[in-house]
Amino acid sequence: MLQRPRRLRKNPVVREMIAETRLSKDMFIYPYFVVPGNNVVHPLDAMPGISHFSEDTLIKDVEKGLKLGVNKIMLFGVGDEKSDNAASAYHDHSLVPSAVRLLKKNFGDDLYIVTDVCVCSYTSHGHCGILKNDYVQNDETVEVIAKMALTHVQAGADMLAPSDMMDGRVAAMRSVLDGAGYVNAAIMSHATKFASAYYGPFREAADCAPSKGDRKAYQMDFRNPNEALREALLDESEGADVLMVKPALAYLDIMHNLKQHTDLPIACYNVSGEYSMVKAAAQRGWIDEQKVVMETMHAFARAGASIITTYHIRDIVENNWM
Ligand code: PBG
Ligand code: ZN
Repeated sequence: MLQRPRRLRKNPVVREMIAETRLSKDMFIYPYFVVPGNNVVHPLDAMPGISHFSEDTLIKDVEKGLKLGVNKIMLFGVGDEKSDNAASAYHDHSLVPSAVRLLKKNFGDDLYIVTDVCVCSYTSHGHCGILKNDYVQNDETVEVIAKMALTHVQAGADMLAPSDMMDGRVAAMRSVLDGAGYVNAAIMSHATKFASAYYGPFREAADCAPSKGDRKAYQMDFRNPNEALREALLDESEGADVLMVKPALAYLDIMHNLKQHTDLPIACYNVSGEYSMVKAAAQRGWIDEQKVVMETMHAFARAGASIITTYHIRDIVENNWM
């Protein structure tokens, strides 16, 4: 007998009924870059639609997002004092803790705040750690990262997203947080973060490009799926609550494979370069932005991600694409 799968594609109603993957606003996290000063809204050249915000303007933009259902954000600090030991990364008066306090004061638990935990925007050389003899020192960096995490949580952050790729940082963060009584501060580790050219626009946005060398001695080699699984499961064993794969679009196999090996929620980070490519092609009229963006978001969900960090989410909700 002829098999006719097309029967269930006959019209939109039946297509909706059999859809295997569905998205909801609840899955999305929107990244923000906070800079010093007042009344700053500085659009980023290489990331159309994304801006640097100072605290005061950040509050206003977050409020707009909240009205549309964007109630989870990821905060990056840009332009704090830079030093070799990244001390400003864990000062209580730094950009991120200060913004977190203000956001929590304004929005309380209506806003779920994830903070990026990494020192690259706070080191004079732009590496994600403490540098000695041109090598990023693992254990020294982990100590700084744990302190930074504690500062963020003390300010009111709900979840921490370490993006450094040092070994043992999840365990160290967990132990410092638990030791201080913050047992409910969640950790979403950038469990498998690849050394990727897709971070290009972000490095301008976060002012964190390494002044010398690259990040290949700590971020992962994109040729290694087995190592990626090992990295992710190590973070799980160290106490991570959510495992993130980054970048997203070129790493769907990594997400899918991870999904078969963990019961933790899987997140993906649809990074700056992925965003900018879509924006650039859309601006030229070469692709249909809505269709491309929504196809991509479904691909992440299909691959196993239940949490999607993306710069596209404001466009999605503002234009009712979902
Ligand atoms: C740095 C960091 C990067 C991103 C997030 N945190 C860049 C890098 O590792 O060089 C990339 C995010 C993006 O491209 O959107 N710790
Ligand atoms: Zn970093």
